[in-house]
Amino acid sequence: MKENISILIPEDKIQKRVLEIAEQISNDFEGEDITLICILKGAVMFMVDLARKINQNVEIDFMDVSSYGERTESSGNIKINKDLQNPIEGKNIIIVEDIIDSGRTLNYLYRYLKDKKPASLKICTLLDKPERRVFDIKVDYTGFTIPDEFIVGYGLDYAEKYRNLPYIGILKQ
Ligand code: IMP
Ligand code: MG
Repeated sequence: MKENISILIPEDKIQKRVLEIAEQISNDFEGEDITLICILKGAVMFMVDLARKINQNVEIDFMDVSSYGERTESSGNIKINKDLQNPIEGKNIIIVEDIIDSGRTLNYLYRYLKDKKPASLKICTLLDKPERRVFDIKVDYTGFTIPDEFIVGYGLDYAEKYRNLPYIGILKQ
């Protein structure tokens, strides 16, 4: 354990919840193929664990986005650093995100992907910080709802550190 990090969600709880979400997704899409779109880099650990526990065929793709111009209310201030590799028209798409904070990233991504005419488009997030929401987002699958703290581990970073921790922790100032 790192002394500047207090454990919020231990590894076994994360894995148990990931399995529950995978089962829910498997039921919701019974007999259908799914494409998971992992939002880099924070959602990587979550997406691979989730994908391995879903029963049906799963395709994976990746996007990397960053937001700039922190304070504007518009959703245009998102930059795509890496776009999808394959077309998603007619496919069942699940966006896999690490955490929803203001909702700015997902507000943009949802519309961006919806325009590409997938058969269905759902949002799955490991963590949700609803207190900080600016944009209204309809989340289909949530791992854990958490308080307004800065979180690291299991994919989430502070200055690129701590992504490899197997648990989710609060970074103390
Ligand atoms: P949003 O666009 O404000 O919803 O921000 C979402 C993105 O901000 C996430 O995908 C994370 O990359 C980052 N983020 C927000 N809160 C945290 C946190 O507590 N720890 C690490 N990254 C965070
Ligand atoms: Mg992110």
